[in-house]
Amino acid sequence: MAGYIHGETDPREVARLEKQARFASPFILRELDATPGMRVLDLATGVGAMAQQLFERFPGVRLFALDLDRRKLSHAAAHHPGPGYVRGDASRLPFKGGAFERVHCSWLLEHLARPVEVLREVRRVLAAGGYCHLTEVDNSTFRTSPESPEVAQTLSALNTAQIAAGGDPFIGQRLEALFREAGFSRVRLIPAELRGTGDDLRFFHAFAEEFAEIFESLDEALGPKMAPTLRAAARRLRELPGTPGAEMYYRGVIGQAWR
Ligand SMILES: C[S@@+](CC[C@H](N)C(=O)[O-])C[C@H]1O[C@@H](n2cnc3c(N)ncnc32)[C@H](O)[C@@H]1O
Repeated sequence: MAGYIHGETDPREVARLEKQARFASPFILRELDATPGMRVLDLATGVGAMAQQLFERFPGVRLFALDLDRRKLSHAAAHHPGPGYVRGDASRLPFKGGAFERVHCSWLLEHLARPVEVLREVRRVLAAGGYCHLTEVDNSTFRTSPESPEVAQTLSALNTAQIAAGGDPFIGQRLEALFREAGFSRVRLIPAELRGTGDDLRFFHAFAEEFAEIFESLDEALGPKMAPTLRAAARRLRELPGTPGAEMYYRGVIGQAWR
Protein backbone atom coordinates (compact mmCIF):
# COMPACT_ATOMS: atom_id res chain seq x y z
CA MET A 1 0.00 0.00 0.00
CA ALA A 2 0.97 3.62 -0.07
CA GLY A 3 2.08 5.04 3.31
CA TYR A 4 -0.34 4.64 6.21
CA ILE A 5 -0.79 8.05 7.80
CA HIS A 6 -2.29 7.08 11.17
CA GLY A 7 -0.20 4.89 13.48
CA GLU A 8 0.72 1.22 13.41
CA THR A 9 0.11 -1.33 16.19
CA ASP A 10 0.95 0.93 19.12
CA PRO A 11 -1.64 0.60 21.90
CA ARG A 12 -3.13 4.04 21.29
CA GLU A 13 -3.78 3.31 17.59
CA VAL A 14 -5.14 -0.16 18.34
CA ALA A 15 -7.51 1.29 20.96
CA ARG A 16 -8.60 3.95 18.44
CA LEU A 17 -9.38 1.36 15.75
CA GLU A 18 -11.32 -0.83 18.20
CA LYS A 19 -13.37 2.16 19.36
CA GLN A 20 -13.88 3.38 15.79
CA ALA A 21 -15.25 -0.03 14.79
CA ARG A 22 -17.72 -0.04 17.70
CA PHE A 23 -18.80 3.52 16.89
CA ALA A 24 -19.08 3.09 13.10
CA SER A 25 -20.40 -0.45 12.72
CA PRO A 26 -24.08 0.40 13.43
CA PHE A 27 -23.96 2.79 10.46
CA ILE A 28 -21.74 0.94 8.08
CA LEU A 29 -23.02 -2.60 8.60
CA ARG A 30 -26.72 -1.66 8.50
CA GLU A 31 -27.15 -2.54 4.82
CA LEU A 32 -25.00 -5.68 4.87
CA ASP A 33 -26.67 -9.06 5.21
CA ALA A 34 -25.16 -12.53 5.57
CA THR A 35 -26.77 -15.80 6.58
CA PRO A 36 -25.29 -18.77 8.47
CA GLY A 37 -22.96 -20.89 6.35
CA MET A 38 -22.00 -18.06 4.01
CA ARG A 39 -18.31 -17.50 3.38
CA VAL A 40 -17.47 -13.91 4.30
CA LEU A 41 -14.15 -12.11 3.88
CA ASP A 42 -13.09 -9.06 5.88
CA LEU A 43 -10.54 -7.58 3.53
CA ALA A 44 -7.72 -5.49 5.09
CA THR A 45 -8.91 -6.39 8.56
CA GLY A 46 -6.08 -4.58 10.34
CA VAL A 47 -6.24 -5.42 14.04
CA GLY A 48 -9.50 -7.31 13.46
CA ALA A 49 -11.76 -4.64 14.96
CA MET A 50 -14.39 -4.73 12.21
CA ALA A 51 -13.99 -8.51 11.86
CA GLN A 52 -15.10 -8.77 15.49
CA GLN A 53 -18.18 -6.67 14.68
CA LEU A 54 -18.96 -8.96 11.71
CA PHE A 55 -18.44 -12.04 13.88
CA GLU A 56 -20.94 -10.79 16.48
CA ARG A 57 -23.47 -9.54 13.96
CA PHE A 58 -23.53 -12.60 11.68
CA PRO A 59 -23.29 -15.73 13.84
CA GLY A 60 -22.74 -18.92 11.86
CA VAL A 61 -20.99 -17.37 8.86
CA ARG A 62 -17.57 -18.72 7.87
CA LEU A 63 -15.57 -15.58 8.47
CA PHE A 64 -12.08 -15.04 7.07
CA ALA A 65 -10.02 -11.90 7.61
CA LEU A 66 -7.02 -10.88 5.52
CA ASP A 67 -4.34 -8.24 5.92
CA LEU A 68 -0.87 -7.63 4.57
CA ASP A 69 0.59 -6.66 7.93
CA ARG A 70 1.84 -9.60 10.00
CA ARG A 71 1.92 -7.66 13.30
CA LYS A 72 -1.66 -6.47 12.94
CA LEU A 73 -2.79 -10.00 12.13
CA SER A 74 -1.04 -11.39 15.24
CA HIS A 75 -2.81 -8.79 17.33
CA ALA A 76 -6.13 -9.62 15.64
CA ALA A 77 -5.74 -13.37 16.19
CA ALA A 78 -4.84 -12.84 19.86
CA HIS A 79 -7.70 -10.45 20.64
CA HIS A 80 -10.47 -11.56 18.24
CA PRO A 81 -10.10 -15.32 17.87
CA GLY A 82 -13.33 -15.97 15.90
CA PRO A 83 -12.33 -15.43 12.26
CA GLY A 84 -9.77 -17.41 10.25
CA TYR A 85 -6.85 -15.04 9.63
CA VAL A 86 -4.88 -15.05 6.40
CA ARG A 87 -1.89 -12.95 5.44
CA GLY A 88 -2.04 -11.71 1.89
CA ASP A 89 -2.08 -8.83 -0.55
CA ALA A 90 -5.49 -7.46 -1.48
CA SER A 91 -4.30 -6.95 -5.05
CA ARG A 92 -3.33 -10.66 -5.36
CA LEU A 93 -5.77 -12.48 -3.13
CA PRO A 94 -4.73 -15.98 -2.08
CA PHE A 95 -8.21 -17.45 -2.75
CA LYS A 96 -9.74 -19.23 -5.70
CA GLY A 97 -12.37 -17.54 -7.85
CA GLY A 98 -15.89 -17.47 -6.37
CA ALA A 99 -14.66 -18.27 -2.84
CA PHE A 100 -16.89 -15.80 -0.95
CA GLU A 101 -20.55 -14.82 -0.89
CA ARG A 102 -19.66 -11.52 0.80
CA VAL A 103 -16.55 -9.35 0.90
CA HIS A 104 -16.52 -6.60 3.52
CA CYS A 105 -13.85 -3.92 3.54
CA SER A 106 -13.53 -0.70 5.51
CA TRP A 107 -11.10 2.12 4.76
CA LEU A 108 -8.61 0.35 2.53
CA LEU A 109 -8.97 1.92 -0.93
CA GLU A 110 -8.35 5.44 0.38
CA HIS A 111 -4.75 4.38 1.14
CA LEU A 112 -3.98 2.72 -2.20
CA ALA A 113 -2.33 4.13 -5.31
CA ARG A 114 -4.08 1.54 -7.54
CA PRO A 115 -7.47 0.72 -5.97
CA VAL A 116 -8.87 -0.82 -9.17
CA GLU A 117 -6.43 -3.73 -8.88
CA VAL A 118 -8.00 -4.60 -5.53
CA LEU A 119 -11.56 -4.22 -6.85
CA ARG A 120 -10.75 -6.61 -9.73
CA GLU A 121 -9.55 -9.15 -7.19
CA VAL A 122 -12.64 -8.61 -5.04
CA ARG A 123 -14.77 -9.31 -8.11
CA ARG A 124 -12.80 -12.46 -8.92
CA VAL A 125 -13.21 -13.98 -5.44
CA LEU A 126 -16.94 -13.21 -5.21
CA ALA A 127 -19.31 -16.08 -5.88
CA ALA A 128 -22.06 -15.60 -8.47
CA GLY A 129 -24.82 -13.50 -6.87
CA GLY A 130 -22.53 -12.42 -4.04
CA TYR A 131 -21.61 -8.83 -3.31
CA CYS A 132 -18.95 -6.70 -1.73
CA HIS A 133 -19.63 -3.98 0.81
CA LEU A 134 -16.97 -1.29 1.03
CA THR A 135 -16.86 1.79 3.25
CA GLU A 136 -14.77 4.71 2.09
CA VAL A 137 -14.08 8.32 2.93
CA ASP A 138 -14.92 11.64 1.33
CA ASN A 139 -13.15 14.22 3.46
CA SER A 140 -14.53 17.10 1.37
CA THR A 141 -17.84 16.64 3.23
CA PHE A 142 -16.50 17.39 6.72
CA ARG A 143 -18.02 20.53 8.27
CA THR A 144 -18.21 22.10 11.70
CA SER A 145 -20.24 25.06 12.80
CA PRO A 146 -18.76 27.21 14.18
CA GLU A 147 -15.76 26.73 11.92
CA SER A 148 -12.30 26.59 13.43
CA PRO A 149 -9.05 27.50 11.67
CA GLU A 150 -7.16 24.76 13.53
CA VAL A 151 -9.68 22.13 12.40
CA ALA A 152 -9.51 23.36 8.80
CA GLN A 153 -5.69 23.38 8.85
CA THR A 154 -5.52 19.89 10.32
CA LEU A 155 -7.98 18.45 7.83
CA SER A 156 -6.11 20.07 4.99
CA ALA A 157 -2.77 18.70 6.31
CA LEU A 158 -4.32 15.23 6.66
CA ASN A 159 -5.58 15.34 3.07
CA THR A 160 -2.22 16.58 1.76
CA ALA A 161 -0.31 13.86 3.66
CA GLN A 162 -2.63 11.16 2.40
CA ILE A 163 -2.28 12.30 -1.20
CA ALA A 164 1.52 12.54 -0.82
CA ALA A 165 1.51 8.97 0.50
CA GLY A 166 -0.29 7.82 -2.67
CA GLY A 167 -3.84 7.66 -1.29
CA ASP A 168 -7.03 9.63 -1.92
CA PRO A 169 -9.00 11.23 0.95
CA PHE A 170 -11.89 11.97 -1.44
CA ILE A 171 -12.11 8.49 -2.96
CA GLY A 172 -15.79 8.11 -2.06
CA GLN A 173 -16.57 10.51 -4.93
CA ARG A 174 -15.15 8.09 -7.51
CA LEU A 175 -16.13 4.79 -5.95
CA GLU A 176 -18.79 4.07 -8.57
CA ALA A 177 -16.36 4.80 -11.43
CA LEU A 178 -13.76 2.54 -9.81
CA PHE A 179 -16.26 -0.30 -9.48
CA ARG A 180 -17.19 0.06 -13.17
CA GLU A 181 -13.54 0.11 -14.22
CA ALA A 182 -13.03 -3.11 -12.27
CA GLY A 183 -15.83 -4.76 -14.27
CA PHE A 184 -18.79 -4.53 -11.87
CA SER A 185 -22.07 -3.64 -13.55
CA ARG A 186 -24.55 -3.72 -10.65
CA VAL A 187 -23.45 -1.08 -8.16
CA ARG A 188 -25.24 0.62 -5.28
CA LEU A 189 -23.91 3.63 -3.37
CA ILE A 190 -25.21 4.40 0.11
CA PRO A 191 -24.29 7.70 1.79
CA ALA A 192 -23.19 7.16 5.39
CA GLU A 193 -24.17 10.46 6.98
CA LEU A 194 -23.11 11.46 10.46
CA ARG A 195 -24.59 14.61 11.97
CA GLY A 196 -23.81 15.87 15.44
CA THR A 197 -26.24 18.40 16.91
CA GLY A 198 -27.61 19.38 20.30
CA ASP A 199 -30.62 17.10 19.62
CA ASP A 200 -28.51 14.05 20.47
CA LEU A 201 -25.64 15.11 22.67
CA ARG A 202 -24.53 11.58 23.45
CA PHE A 203 -23.99 10.89 19.76
CA PHE A 204 -22.43 14.34 19.22
CA HIS A 205 -19.85 13.66 21.95
CA ALA A 206 -18.97 10.25 20.47
CA PHE A 207 -18.76 11.66 16.93
CA ALA A 208 -16.55 14.61 17.96
CA GLU A 209 -14.33 12.25 19.97
CA GLU A 210 -13.85 9.96 16.94
CA PHE A 211 -12.55 12.81 14.82
CA ALA A 212 -10.49 14.28 17.65
CA GLU A 213 -8.76 10.90 17.97
CA ILE A 214 -8.24 10.64 14.19
CA PHE A 215 -6.55 14.04 14.30
CA GLU A 216 -4.38 13.03 17.27
CA SER A 217 -3.33 9.84 15.45
CA LEU A 218 -1.68 12.03 12.79
CA ASP A 219 1.01 13.42 15.08
CA GLU A 220 3.85 11.33 13.65
CA ALA A 221 2.76 11.65 10.02
CA LEU A 222 2.38 15.44 10.20
CA GLY A 223 5.51 16.10 12.25
CA PRO A 224 6.27 18.22 15.34
CA LYS A 225 5.53 21.58 13.68
CA MET A 226 1.86 20.62 13.30
CA ALA A 227 1.57 19.16 16.82
CA PRO A 228 0.18 22.31 18.53
CA THR A 229 -2.37 22.77 15.71
CA LEU A 230 -3.42 19.12 15.94
CA ARG A 231 -3.91 19.38 19.67
CA ALA A 232 -5.87 22.63 19.33
CA ALA A 233 -8.02 21.12 16.57
CA ALA A 234 -8.81 18.07 18.71
CA ARG A 235 -9.71 20.41 21.59
CA ARG A 236 -12.01 22.48 19.34
CA LEU A 237 -13.82 19.33 18.22
CA ARG A 238 -14.28 18.13 21.80
CA GLU A 239 -15.70 21.55 22.74
CA LEU A 240 -18.34 21.48 19.99
CA PRO A 241 -21.02 19.39 21.76
CA GLY A 242 -20.95 21.82 24.70
CA THR A 243 -21.26 24.88 22.42
CA PRO A 244 -24.88 26.08 22.01
CA GLY A 245 -26.06 25.72 18.39
CA ALA A 246 -22.90 23.93 17.23
CA GLU A 247 -22.98 21.18 14.57
CA MET A 248 -20.63 18.72 12.96
CA TYR A 249 -21.19 16.75 9.74
CA TYR A 250 -19.44 14.05 7.76
CA ARG A 251 -20.56 11.86 4.88
CA GLY A 252 -18.70 8.68 4.03
CA VAL A 253 -19.70 6.38 1.19
CA ILE A 254 -20.68 2.72 1.29
CA GLY A 255 -20.41 0.97 -2.05
CA GLN A 256 -21.99 -2.38 -2.77
CA ALA A 257 -21.28 -4.21 -6.02
CA TRP A 258 -22.57 -7.58 -7.22
CA ARG A 259 -20.83 -10.36 -9.07
C1 LIG B 1 -7.15 1.99 7.73
S1 LIG B 1 -6.69 0.35 8.07
C2 LIG B 1 -8.32 -0.34 8.16
C3 LIG B 1 -8.38 -1.57 9.00
C4 LIG B 1 -9.76 -2.18 9.20
N1 LIG B 1 -10.46 -2.43 7.95
C5 LIG B 1 -10.62 -1.35 10.12
O1 LIG B 1 -11.69 -0.91 9.71
O2 LIG B 1 -10.22 -1.16 11.28
C6 LIG B 1 -6.09 -0.22 6.49
C7 LIG B 1 -5.55 -1.64 6.53
O3 LIG B 1 -5.24 -2.05 5.20
C8 LIG B 1 -4.12 -2.92 5.25
N2 LIG B 1 -3.55 -2.99 3.90
C9 LIG B 1 -2.97 -2.02 3.20
N3 LIG B 1 -2.61 -2.43 1.97
C10 LIG B 1 -2.98 -3.71 1.89
C11 LIG B 1 -2.91 -4.70 0.87
N4 LIG B 1 -2.36 -4.42 -0.30
N5 LIG B 1 -3.41 -5.90 1.12
C12 LIG B 1 -3.96 -6.20 2.32
N6 LIG B 1 -4.08 -5.31 3.33
C13 LIG B 1 -3.59 -4.08 3.12
C14 LIG B 1 -3.23 -2.27 6.28
O4 LIG B 1 -2.28 -3.18 6.80
C15 LIG B 1 -4.26 -1.82 7.32
O5 LIG B 1 -4.45 -2.81 8.28
